[in-house]
This record gives sequence, structure tokens and C-alpha cells, in this order.
Amino acid sequence: MGEGISDYTKFCVDLRRHMWMAGVETELRRLIWQIAVTGKYISAKIHESNRKLAGFKNIFGEEQLALDKSSDAILKNQLQFSGFVREYASEEQDQIVQIGTGAEKYFVTADPLDGSSLVDTNLAIGTIIGIHNGAMYGKGRDTMVAALYITYGPLITMVYSAGKGTHEFVLNREGEYVLSQENIRLKEKGDIYSLGGLRKDWTPEHLRFVEYLEDEGYKLRYSGGFVPDINQVLIKNGGIFTYPALKKSPHGKLRLLFELLPMAFLMEQAGGEATDGKQAILDISVEDIGQRCPIYIGSRFEVGKAREFLEEVQT
Ligand code: AHG
Ligand code: MN
Ligand code: MN
Repeated sequence: MGEGISDYTKFCVDLRRHMWMAGVETELRRLIWQIAVTGKYISAKIHESNRKLAGFKNIFGEEQLALDKSSDAILKNQLQFSGFVREYASEEQDQIVQIGTGAEKYFVTADPLDGSSLVDTNLAIGTIIGIHNGAMYGKGRDTMVAALYITYGPLITMVYSAGKGTHEFVLNREGEYVLSQENIRLKEKGDIYSLGGLRKDWTPEHLRFVEYLEDEGYKLRYSGGFVPDINQVLIKNGGIFTYPALKKSPHGKLRLLFELLPMAFLMEQAGGEATDGKQAILDISVEDIGQRCPIYIGSRFEVGKAREFLEEVQT
């Protein structure tokens, strides 16, 4: 799949051609393409808007920006008429939305705009998508067939996997997604780390893991935007992102369905790992759309180290 793309032709491999060469199934190719296109519309919304609260809260009790709601509406409308999506679950919707006839193949999850509270600071934010074959209740490893995220930064980039490696595309001036990195692979060990949550709220075992990374000279990289923070670990081919269990919230902050499953899928496809500290994210059963999990995601060495420190819970 695509290994034969020579340097000469690589610059003109757009997303559709890449997925065709990778042997991605037709309906899934079309669905991924239709979702990727929404990145242009959401980016346009980001450019025209300033940070206005929509006056609503999502199921997590978080204030919704007008941008959260409009990004969600763009995605839902695009998927509604795709012909491939039966149900849609979004961080901005109160419940699962039936958007097809019921006979369609795929179930799509969305964090339409992750890190939206950063939009007024002009820091990078993103869209996170999971594509499940059938229902999404159960283990991600059994239901997920693809995942992607779009990063709205100095460039608009899109990283996707349909189970045949993890690949990055850049949106060019002509509005095409052109291949920029094929088969991204994480090294066994990296040199950057991201730390979610407040130090005073960390558990002693998480604190000991962080002190280990600091003693080893890892460089702190944390923007507060899950998408660019994860993207940095992937594009720098190593390191670890953590948002741990906290003393008052043992499940941490990030959402299994909307944020963690898609990133775990992409990271495993790039030779990395993702765990809640005990089990692989893709092996955790989704029981509730609002489920949260601690997350340690990135290179095998660092994720393995995190598991070691977390197992040493002091009795
Ligand atoms: P969202 O904007 O979709 O609610 O996600 C925000 C998340 C995620 O982007 C980031 O990793 C985390 O919030 C940052 O949390 P803290 O502000 O607690 O660091
Ligand atoms: Mn989010
Ligand atoms: Mn969000």
C-alpha cells in the first residue's frame, strides 16, 4: 500500500488517491474524504468568528462556544447526507443522533472543536473523529475502522488512519489535502512530555513518574490543546502525553469516546501505545458516551515506564 510512492510523485498524492492506493474500502474512503473536507468549513468559521459563548453547556457541564456549536452543525450536516453514516455522537450533543435511514454502515464520533477555549489566544486547535463499523459500544479495538484529526494551526493538517498506517496531509492553497508524511512511525523512546491537570491534584505515583521524566531530561511540551499536543508527539516521532487520574477525579478529564479512542487508534497504527495506566485504551469497553479515562499515550518506552510507576501504588 503506497510504499512504492516515489519522491517525485509523493508531492501530488492527495488524500483520495492515497486511500485508493492503500486499498481503503470505497465507502470508507468517501466518508473519510467528506469528513476531511469539513476542515475547510470549520477553519473558515474559526477565521470569521471571535470567542463568543453560545450560552449553552454540553453534557460535561462545559460552557459551549458558538464555534463549538457551529463546528458540530457543520459536521452533522455533512454526515447527514453522506449516505454512509447511521449514527453520530458528538461532545456537543446531549445524546447519540440517528442521522441515516438506519441501514448505513458507520457510526461516527466527533469532538468537533477540541481546545476551543484557546481560540482567542490564536493557539492551534483541532477536530477529532472516530469511525466505527456498527455500534460504538464495546471495545474500540473491535469497533473502530478509522480515525482522523485536523489541526488548525499555521497550516491546516489532517492525520488519518484506516488501519493501514498513520499518514499526514497538508491542505494546500488549492484546497487539496496533499500527502506530507506517509507511515509515520514512533521511535521506541522520545524526549518530550505533556502534563495535564494540576500538580497539587496528581496522585503520588503519577508525580513519581513525572519526576522520573524530568530527571531524564525530557522537555515539557504542553499547549492545553489535546490535538496539537498529541500531534507534536506523533510528528516528532516520540514522547508521551499524559492527562492522569486526579485525586478528586480518578477518571481524569479526557473523554474515551470522543478524544482518546481516535488518538489511541492513530498512535497504535504509528507503532505507539495508549493506556489508562492499567489497560490499553482500545481494550476498554465503552459503556457510556460521557466516559472519561486517564491517558498515557506515545512511545512504547515511556508508556511502559508510566505503567511501571502507576503499578507501584504505595501501600
Ligand atoms: P475541549 O476543548 O474539547 O473541551 O477539550 C479540552 C481538553 C483538551 O483539549 C486538553 O488536553 C485539555 O482540555 C486541557 O485541560 P486543562 O485545561 O485542564 O489542562
Ligand atoms: Mn476535546
Ligand atoms: Mn471539544
